[in-house]
Amino acid sequence: MLKDTSFAIHPGMEQQSGPVVYRDIGNVLNHTESDNTYLFSCENGNVAVQFYTDSIVRVAMNQKTEPKLHVSKTVHVTPGDLRITEVNSEEVLRLKTNNLVLIIRKAPFRITVMDDQDRVIVAEGDKGMAYRENGEVTVFKEMNEDDHFYGFGEKSGYLDKRGEKYEMWNTDVYAPHNPETDPLYESIPYFMTLRHGRAHGVFFDNTFRTKFDMKTASNYYSFSAEGGQIDYYVMAGPEPKAVLEQYTHLTGRMPLPPKWAIGYHQSRYSYETETEVRELAKSFVEHDIPVDVIHLDIHYMNGYRVFTFDKERFPNPKKLICDLKEMGIRIVPIVDPGVKKDSEYPIYQEGVREDLFCKYMEGDIYFGEVWPGDSAFPDFTDGKARKWWGDQHAFYTNIGIEGIWNDMNEPAVFNETKTMDVSVMHRNDGEPTTHRELHNVYGLFMGQATYEGMKEQLKGKRPFILTRAGYAGVQRYASVWTGDNRSFWEHLQMSLPMVMNLGLSGVPFTGPDVGGFAHDTNAELLTRWTQVGAFTPYFRNHSAIGTLYQEPWQFGEKYEAIMKKYIQMRYKWMPQLYSLFYQANKRGLPVMRPLLMEYPSDAKTYNLNDQFMFGDNVVIAPILTPSTTDRTVYLPAGDWIEFTTGKKYTGEKLHLIHAELEDMPIFVKAGTAIMLGEWNSNADKTSKNISMEIYAGECDETYAFTYYDDDGETFAYEDGSYLKMDVEVTSHINTVEVSVRNKNGDYTPEYNEIIVNIIGLREGGNVIINGEISRDIDKLSLKI
Ligand code: GLC
Repeated sequence: MLKDTSFAIHPGMEQQSGPVVYRDIGNVLNHTESDNTYLFSCENGNVAVQFYTDSIVRVAMNQKTEPKLHVSKTVHVTPGDLRITEVNSEEVLRLKTNNLVLIIRKAPFRITVMDDQDRVIVAEGDKGMAYRENGEVTVFKEMNEDDHFYGFGEKSGYLDKRGEKYEMWNTDVYAPHNPETDPLYESIPYFMTLRHGRAHGVFFDNTFRTKFDMKTASNYYSFSAEGGQIDYYVMAGPEPKAVLEQYTHLTGRMPLPPKWAIGYHQSRYSYETETEVRELAKSFVEHDIPVDVIHLDIHYMNGYRVFTFDKERFPNPKKLICDLKEMGIRIVPIVDPGVKKDSEYPIYQEGVREDLFCKYMEGDIYFGEVWPGDSAFPDFTDGKARKWWGDQHAFYTNIGIEGIWNDMNEPAVFNETKTMDVSVMHRNDGEPTTHRELHNVYGLFMGQATYEGMKEQLKGKRPFILTRAGYAGVQRYASVWTGDNRSFWEHLQMSLPMVMNLGLSGVPFTGPDVGGFAHDTNAELLTRWTQVGAFTPYFRNHSAIGTLYQEPWQFGEKYEAIMKKYIQMRYKWMPQLYSLFYQANKRGLPVMRPLLMEYPSDAKTYNLNDQFMFGDNVVIAPILTPSTTDRTVYLPAGDWIEFTTGKKYTGEKLHLIHAELEDMPIFVKAGTAIMLGEWNSNADKTSKNISMEIYAGECDETYAFTYYDDDGETFAYEDGSYLKMDVEVTSHINTVEVSVRNKNGDYTPEYNEIIVNIIGLREGGNVIINGEISRDIDKLSLKI
């Protein structure tokens, strides 16, 4: 195509647009207050200010009417009942909560948000809120020279987004995924700013196509939307973790995943027959390589009709699923939104009959081409369609399926725009709205429909949903994989900041296609990628049709042995991983974290792209280039012990670390602890022995952590059936003290003690467990 050649930069192609004219919100004419909502009538629009908590304030502006305050597609909490002190003068209105101060200048209307110590968080200068005649709304904020930006959901490129411009418009991008490829599948119009070690967040809750410009100027940044109203929240932090707790207070946290969903997944587009799937499962068992899930991609269906099986390829899915479950393996099938236009297909018939598909205002169903050919798309913006779709999943749950993979839900359509016609009119639960406004939430609502339907049918068991598209809050329903990457080292590299930024955007359960989806993988790349995958929150090997098969044994015994070691390691680290998912569920914290999250005052961490933290005390520094067995690793403050060699390294320094293909550098912080289990077999994945590995430190510092366990598959934990232990570990010169500060829950695990291992205890050193000196330091344990 011409536009893919140099013709794209033909001088005549440049669009000669005139200067962009914004209309500023103007001066405040008057303001009122009721129920902690402040309304400002300004020369060119109306503004509302609401406090959600002492640390979260919302600002909404509508240029035509009063701001609409009950329209969010994702925020389900309401403003809290807070004490706000108010000082009003002719020029300025000052509003104060316990953690925030708002200075509202009246001529013209400008907002400055400060923390409880009057430090500016977010400020407006010459420019503030404005709009254009075409309906675009924009907010300009002052940018500090020390601002670093993170989040923005699923974006390619480096960790620190300063100097970047991003767009939010859920898009199916098969190729390429380059640093400049934007937007991708998810829209999370949110970012976190780190300035001088303190963090705050901004969430722009507008579902239209939005843009974030942290590039054009060096003294201000802006965010804008193609339509709708300005509606954003400022979260005061001041630590990165506090920002995430605040952001997920608004958009929700992930439910605890079933344990099997955080194991290893094997996928391919496609394992095409029942025989192939059985062979695959058998191979995993024979090779003693752990696997929890095998995915069924589109070939399992009859002509790509969702909620069907192809009778020839999969003659007896129920038996297949039952037999695999006995082997300890679950099946997760793909379900796309497109329903084949076929008047003899019951799902299509019902969708038409019950009026559940997306339509034009004039009444015609919207048809778009996807895998099955011409297809109709359920209108997930409507409760009735969501319920119907959710109910259809009985087709899967009745045969023992507990997880669903939602794909193509941007929605992707095979046409020039790559998606649905933006003039389609969604039902939107009684408030008809165009696709232009609701495009970015289509995937979120599909996730909701699927999750709620599955949850209802699984009768107490936890469903697992994997999605490609989503909006802020997607974590409430689904985990996210990062779409169609390629088997390039560059894509392995890119996946680290991408997953870290997703984690900083409130979505903790994510990961890329391990090994790369498109393009042929190779032995070394797959091995190195599998090592990383063992420590990413979501761990799935997936590859595209026509590419080399990339199951762990495909490249010979040497590579298989290494991959097996790391996939087994995933299972050995399961108690630690599950306790991290508990933190995600409770506080919204990511499992895989950039170092800046734990060390926000250490500038060396601000753009560290090639290493990450697994929780708060483990640094993973993978090899990300070919033919490489050495790399530099930055270790932050503290002493660090290399997991495999036991060698000690000093923090706040760069180290040159050697790692043969067999090794991926892992460092545990001295003075802290990790919880490990064991690998038994595919049929029996529950650890009978759990150990607390304590890495003795030298100073008197105390490390506090929470060990969490439960049955890993039901919602019984919501009624108290869990084991939660708050543990403190203190290292003195030659003594290590372990104390269980709190133990809650009434879940009885298969183990009745936790083995305690002390790594690096001095000769003749003592161990004190719950106040008692232990006699035999080779046989230490904590009773449950
Ligand atoms: C899309 C998905 C990919 C899947 C393929 C076929 O490209 O991103 O994961 O394998 O569709 O369903």
